[in-house]
Amino acid sequence: MLIESKTVNNKDFGNLSFLESNKDIPFDIKRIYYIYEVPLGTKRGMHAHKDLKQVLWCPYGEIDIVLDNGIEKKKYTLNEPNKLILVGSGVWRDMYWKKEGAVLCVAASDYYDESDYIRDYDEFIKLVKEGYWNNENKL
Ligand code: TYD
Repeated sequence: MLIESKTVNNKDFGNLSFLESNKDIPFDIKRIYYIYEVPLGTKRGMHAHKDLKQVLWCPYGEIDIVLDNGIEKKKYTLNEPNKLILVGSGVWRDMYWKKEGAVLCVAASDYYDESDYIRDYDEFIKLVKEGYWNNENKL
């Protein structure tokens, strides 16, 4: 789901965008991480999460994010600092670096936990079919 951050524009001094937990982002933020110095054309992601929810944005550059809930796919292009996407639980993501120097920032609902990852696409589809997310894994 697309989220637009609130932004204070000033033609002389530039823009300031902001997001607040439980207001603009529908969870408490427990972790922030960012991915940078990624070679152009790189594909990352290739996993889903059992529970984790995340908000992704690209403060500089261009990154394509392809989301897949096992039934349909949706592609988002992150190329503006105030354009963000909410990626809920049970959504497979593939991410493509489209511009040199592009940076991906992520705000996450929980601490890092490898056991929350699903890195095998067949296992992901199996869980979708079993109704693991009760069809609530919207794109
Ligand atoms: P991963 O989430 O697989 O990155 P991407 O989907 O962008 O390719 O994480 C890459 C590696 O970094 C993996 O070994 C797990 C580790 N990692 C942490 O240790 N802490 C974190 O908060 C994150 C997001 C990843």
